[in-house]
Amino acid sequence: MKIYDIEKENISEKIETRLNELFSENENVHCNDAIKYCSACLILENEKNIIGYCMYHFISGNYNGIYLDQGVLAKKYQNMKLSQKFYDYLIEKYHCNLYAHVSIYNRQSMKSLCKYGFIPIEVSIDKEFYGIENYTSLLLVKEINTN
Ligand SMILES: CC(C)(COP(=O)(O)OP(=O)(O)OC[C@H]1O[C@@H](n2cnc3c(N)ncnc32)[C@H](O)[C@@H]1OP(=O)(O)O)[C@@H](O)C(=O)NCCC(=O)NCCS
Repeated sequence: MKIYDIEKENISEKIETRLNELFSENENVHCNDAIKYCSACLILENEKNIIGYCMYHFISGNYNGIYLDQGVLAKKYQNMKLSQKFYDYLIEKYHCNLYAHVSIYNRQSMKSLCKYGFIPIEVSIDKEFYGIENYTSLLLVKEINTN
């Protein structure tokens, strides 16, 4: 398997089409325009096929580090801890904290992130989020070890 980082402006139409396909096969993901908010995207390939992606951007202010906009794996490759490759890659490359919002109903994502060491730090309730009323999510952080 191969993982690489692409700046948003370098995401080709072909890649974007494949990212949309992965998005569409996952009913748990609601935000269909995460690409608008990201600045870059990690791509996970297996034998030259894109099997997952993780869109992200840098944040500063109350929280400093990388905000994960959206992470999706092809169904066939889920529950194999492959998403950890994204977090390992970002931490190794950028040495900063990682942040992500996760719906309280997305048990799979919550479990995966918590097993990696993300911890919840805030609750958010959006009156409306991509058609869902009172969308409740937790903001999680993976703090890098600064020792
Ligand atoms: C969420 C996602 C990125 C996590 O990556 P992953 O590599 O598949 O996750 P992991 O293998 O690390 O962990 C998944 C855990 O959830 C568990 N799980 C799967 N479905 C579950 C469910 N419906 N309820 C509870 N737990 C569930 C798995 O058993 C596994 O736990 P385990 O390690 O104790 O067996 C990936 O599964 C995915 O693409 N899901 C669909 C899209 C999505 O929801 N993205 C997140 C929002 S942007």
